[in-house]
Amino acid sequence: MSNNTEKRNILVTSALPYANAPLHLGHILEHTQTDIWVRYQKLIGNNCTYVCADDAHGTPIMLKAEELNKEPEDLIQEIYANHVNTFRLYDISHDNFHTTHSEENRILSERIFNALNEKGLIEVKTIEQLYDTSRNMFLADRYVKGSCPKCSAEDQYGDNCEVCSTTYDAIELIDPVSVLSNTPPTIKESEHLFFKLSELKTEIVEWLKNSKVQNPVQNKLSEWLDEDLKDWDISRDFPYFGFEIPGYKDKFFYVWLDAPIGYLASHINFLDKQNSNEFEKFWNPESNSEIYHFIGKDIMYFHTLFFPVMLSNANFKQPSGVFAHGFLTLDGEKMSKSRGNFISADDFVKTLDPEYLRYYFASKLSTGVDDIDLNLEDLKQKVNSDLVNKLVNIASRSANFINKHFNNELSKEIDNNGLIEDFINTSNEVSNHYENLELNKAMKEIMTLADKANQYVDKMEPWVLIKDEKNLELVHKVCSTALNLFRILTIMIEPVTPKLSKKSFNFLNEEPCWDDIKKSLLDHKINSFEPLLTRIEDDQINQLMELKNV
Ligand code: 2FM
Ligand code: ZN
Repeated sequence: MSNNTEKRNILVTSALPYANAPLHLGHILEHTQTDIWVRYQKLIGNNCTYVCADDAHGTPIMLKAEELNKEPEDLIQEIYANHVNTFRLYDISHDNFHTTHSEENRILSERIFNALNEKGLIEVKTIEQLYDTSRNMFLADRYVKGSCPKCSAEDQYGDNCEVCSTTYDAIELIDPVSVLSNTPPTIKESEHLFFKLSELKTEIVEWLKNSKVQNPVQNKLSEWLDEDLKDWDISRDFPYFGFEIPGYKDKFFYVWLDAPIGYLASHINFLDKQNSNEFEKFWNPESNSEIYHFIGKDIMYFHTLFFPVMLSNANFKQPSGVFAHGFLTLDGEKMSKSRGNFISADDFVKTLDPEYLRYYFASKLSTGVDDIDLNLEDLKQKVNSDLVNKLVNIASRSANFINKHFNNELSKEIDNNGLIEDFINTSNEVSNHYENLELNKAMKEIMTLADKANQYVDKMEPWVLIKDEKNLELVHKVCSTALNLFRILTIMIEPVTPKLSKKSFNFLNEEPCWDDIKKSLLDHKINSFEPLLTRIEDDQINQLMELKNV
């Protein structure tokens, strides 16, 4: 992702959340990371579009609807409304949030499937699968349990053994039982459609060479590529909630086939709403557009092995990069509802401003795929010390002088040009950190600058200077300089804390973009200062702790 002066055309996506449950804070981590990058791209003037959608197909959604005595269409619609609302609370600025259960996605999935088929990349094979005769359905791996064929450990799922880590086929399980009906399944044959991945290894290696992928992801992919690649089973039998495969009655696209195509479907849905016909141009393999997918490290397989070669073989542009992040842990442990270690995204906002969490995540996110830990005490400390005591403090200790003694007018000159220069120069480093997704480094630079601004005010002591009439001009310049430093930091941190920055810009009475960092705000009327951010109190943390254990 290089910096150049020409406007880049960028499409960015976050992984599509499943439409069967409200969002958890892990979703918010991913969408915050993506959103910060998107907001940064927009702030520096690139044409950046951020699309996402609900991932609405598959067996779990079908079964969940059944359990709730609803049609799957009704369930996914309710969840859709909930997801849209939650993302709005966290200021996630999707340009479009669509659903994979849409006409656009059906058309694109069929188009891509037909193109692969015409290229001879789809093969029909007969396979044996476990079948639940009381429910009349084939059983996916997670719906069957039995003893491990290798070590005989009991109660293991149909794909691998948690005791000895062996992977196997579900039909190899000893004494299998359907999780859905508690009855022993039979073995039944069925025709499945396979995408011939085994023939595409060279193409995958080529894609990997030409795209932006972090080292840990690259290493994992190389490991997979060292082995022979298996063809990928892209069909599922009735009953299934998804798209029926054209020409194959009662066979449906596997959810993981149409889910990533949902990125394209959301994009075309967005463009249609703008009356734009740029879709084909954007996705043409020759276009100079850039496409980045932000995902969790658990779904690298689908995004790096299958998706890029599906796209290229259907004559679409491949992703320019795939960016993976680690999982979110809570107090060092895996988030889990059943273990009482879980906070839903909707619960978090009941006691805390979501912008606090955006800053906290930014201060921890980097290009690594290590897990990110959320510790509420740490969050409180970080927000109070960085955002309140450092950043906002610069404004709150300087603003009143300007409001009270100088008729809300900033001075005509800066008192300390060296310091302003220092901030402007550092903005280039901050910019590179954003571009390269080293958000923790960007936040560190910004807070180091905030320290410098506060030290400057400490040293100049405007509250002492003001006592002597002859220092009035100096006080004017010092406080105007401090507010200019605050302004630069406010621009820099805008992708992370858009609400705080908006309030700050209202106070400064302007709406700057990244390039305005280079210009000082002088001889300019500002507004009266209003508190910009409140400290996090222990009570709020305690209330949230209680929600965690509900
Ligand atoms: O793992 C998940 O939550 C999937 N719903 C992500 C899909 S991302 C994309 F490929 F659609
Ligand atoms: Zn085992």
